[in-house]
Amino acid sequence: MKILMVCLGNICRSPMAQGVMERTIAEHALDWTVDSAGTNGYHDGEGPDPRAVREARRHGIDISRQRSRKIRQSDLEAFDLILAMDRQNLLNLHAMCHHPSLKSRIHLLMDYAYPDQQVQVPDPYYDDRFAEALQLIQEGCQGVIRAHHRT
Ligand code: 4NP
Repeated sequence: MKILMVCLGNICRSPMAQGVMERTIAEHALDWTVDSAGTNGYHDGEGPDPRAVREARRHGIDISRQRSRKIRQSDLEAFDLILAMDRQNLLNLHAMCHHPSLKSRIHLLMDYAYPDQQVQVPDPYYDDRFAEALQLIQEGCQGVIRAHHRT
C-alpha cells in the first residue's frame, strides 16, 4: 500500500501525518510506504515548519528531513490511498482527476476515525494549534490501519 498525505503547504499537517503514519506502519511491521505533498507549492523544497517539527518530536517522531513538494498529476495514479487533511484539499484533489475512477483513492484522513462526519484537520499555520492537529492525525492513522490491515 502506498499512501500520500496531502495538505495545502506541505509544511505543517501533511508532514506530521507522514511521520505519524510511518511510525504506525512500523509498529505494525507493514511494508507500506508514505509520502506527502501540498496543493499550493508555495513552500517547495522547504523543510517542515519548526512548530510541526517540535510537535512531532514531542511524540518521538523526527520529520525534520522531509521536504515540501507540490502534488503532481502522476501522484493520483502512483498512490493507492490519497488522504486530504481538509475539505478544500479534497476539492482541489478531485479537481485534478481527469478520470472519475481516480476519485475513489481520495479521502479525508479523518473519515477513517469519524466516518461521514466531515471532520477536518484544522490548519495550524496561523493559530498555532499543532498539538490538536497531531492528535487528530494520530486518530486518523489508527483508523487507516484498522480499515486496511487485515489481521
Ligand atoms: P499546511 O499549512 O497546509 O498544514 O502545510 C500551511 C502552511 C503554509 C501555508 C498554508 C498552510 N501558506 O499558504 O503559506
